[in-house]
Amino acid sequence: MGDMCGIVAYVGKPANGASAKPDASAQGTRAVEVVYAGLERLEYRGYDSAGIAVVGGDAVEVRKKSGKIVNLKAELTADPLPVASAGIGHTRWATHGAPTDANAHPHRGGTDGKLALIHNGIIENYAPLRAQLEAGGVEFASQTDSEVAAHLLAKAYAKTGDLTTAMQSIVANLEGAFTLLAVHADQPDRVVGARRNSPLVVGLGEGENYLGSDVAAFIDYTREALELGQDEIVTITPDSVEVITFAGESVTPRQYHVDWDAAAAQKDGYPSFMEKEIHEQPKAVADTLLGRTTPSGELKLDELHIDPALLRSIDKIIVVACGTAAYAGQVARYAIEHWCRIPTEVELAHEFRYRDPVLNSKTLVVSISQSGETMDTLMAVRHAREQGAKCVSICNTRGSTIPRESDAVIYTNAGPEIAVASTKAFLAQITACYLLGLFLAQLRGNKYADEVGRILEDLQAIPAKIQTVLDNAEQVKQIARDMESTQSVLFLGRHVGYPVAMEGALKLKEIAYIHAEGFAAGELKHGPIALIDEGQAVFVIVPSPHGRDSLHSKVVSNIQEVRARGARTLVIAEEGDESVKAYAEEVIYVPKSPSLLAPLLGVVPLQIFSCELATAKGLDVDQPRNLAKSVTVE
Ligand code: F6R
Repeated sequence: MGDMCGIVAYVGKPANGASAKPDASAQGTRAVEVVYAGLERLEYRGYDSAGIAVVGGDAVEVRKKSGKIVNLKAELTADPLPVASAGIGHTRWATHGAPTDANAHPHRGGTDGKLALIHNGIIENYAPLRAQLEAGGVEFASQTDSEVAAHLLAKAYAKTGDLTTAMQSIVANLEGAFTLLAVHADQPDRVVGARRNSPLVVGLGEGENYLGSDVAAFIDYTREALELGQDEIVTITPDSVEVITFAGESVTPRQYHVDWDAAAAQKDGYPSFMEKEIHEQPKAVADTLLGRTTPSGELKLDELHIDPALLRSIDKIIVVACGTAAYAGQVARYAIEHWCRIPTEVELAHEFRYRDPVLNSKTLVVSISQSGETMDTLMAVRHAREQGAKCVSICNTRGSTIPRESDAVIYTNAGPEIAVASTKAFLAQITACYLLGLFLAQLRGNKYADEVGRILEDLQAIPAKIQTVLDNAEQVKQIARDMESTQSVLFLGRHVGYPVAMEGALKLKEIAYIHAEGFAAGELKHGPIALIDEGQAVFVIVPSPHGRDSLHSKVVSNIQEVRARGARTLVIAEEGDESVKAYAEEVIYVPKSPSLLAPLLGVVPLQIFSCELATAKGLDVDQPRNLAKSVTVE
């Protein structure tokens, strides 16, 4: 019953003009404002319920509501929280158990109403702990594992009289993944957090400090942040931040500057974050390429701190990732194998560990993750390192766990991705994979510098081409609006078009709730073609006619095969490719590009299609049902 969630905390002086003495009738205190604003920013992490607790006088006050955060807002208006110096807030994505008011966080611990706690993650041994507590007379108000931690903490506080010491004494008994944040009415100037395997960062203010599951929680107030490591406890007061390990040793955390623009987490006039992020893709790709070439045009990846001799010796690459990031990995495989001649596999991170993969010091494991917190991917990285493999992470979130636990990281500079469905991060991930592939090819002598330079030039030209696709979006938007009542859509592609087809299908499933599948076009005749019926919509991603072998003509044949069986064919083809016109209901043209780079263009109309279709259906494209942005449980 643990959850993966957004969490935020604030500690400061009571709001200007407000009485320092907590007053239950006062409204608009800074603690409540900051925590609520943080929850709004974090809502993409989970939106089954939301809640806030603040220290108000002799007690801790809690408001919590199931459903989206607007429900909590209504509750706060009806029953305002008092002036307070400290507060914690939580937005939940339930892993088990109903998203009810009672199961919403914060949870109270003890019976004196003085302590509240929020939790992100799963406490795996909660059942015996709960049984023990119940045997001792503790009454539970919810079905969550999290409430166990609240009661344990209250008991420990009763013994120690200090929230930090109490936190330290309970974490040793908890198994699983967790971030815990707690407040206590007797120590109203502080919030205490504990972190194991779930994310937590500190925001540094002046006379006030913050905690968040990511920097979005407090980016309106500060850009200065501290990274926390595994198994660390942090205590924030208005003027101090103290970090110790679970064992009690003092830690000096690394400070970093968050260069994400606060505006980047706003919609900027777009109807949804997803649409905004689709339009940010030229910049996401350009920024990912930025600063990675020398003035003479050679590729440099200064951040890849792995011994070049070791990189020359690797004989296998395994890409591990989930969902969209795994499709980026599939695109990468074609490029890396072609450029570097290193056998490359792509594996879903959650399958990887369980098949006992063959790994050694000559294996390079490349993890791809937007959030850097996906638990399945993190576990795959840990497994790979235990087996002696070197791990490079391709990640969009600075200070997140996966890069921290990898040997090296290549950051994608896509900026914060708020919409649950990944778009700009996907393009940035593919771009970073190309850079890695070219770097290895350069280092290992598979390619001459001028060859690498030419491909880099082709890559530099991609952002303007993506812009052209965006400028021509109206055609695909109209197709989407006309298909509002469609029940099923198939996507076909070959070579790098195959992962594009799967990504197109995933986008449609997750935001428009339409059954969709992506196939390798060549596989069709081995079974799936039986699905084709009169009017079945089929997107086909056609490779360049100037590309390799006979791939283009084979895909054109595939279009004919499905059309002959009644399919409505929607074709994505390269500008100037007249050969497909005769077989297509609609042709969506994208600019010319080298075959291996084509996914950066071909996927864009599919993203626009899903976004527009979901919007036409009246769905919330940014927060699709049942999903959460950052999947921090296995
Ligand atoms: C789909 C989507 C997910 C993520 C996947 C991995 O639109 O967003 O499939 O790609 O959950 O997440 P990260 O990249 O954060 O590891």
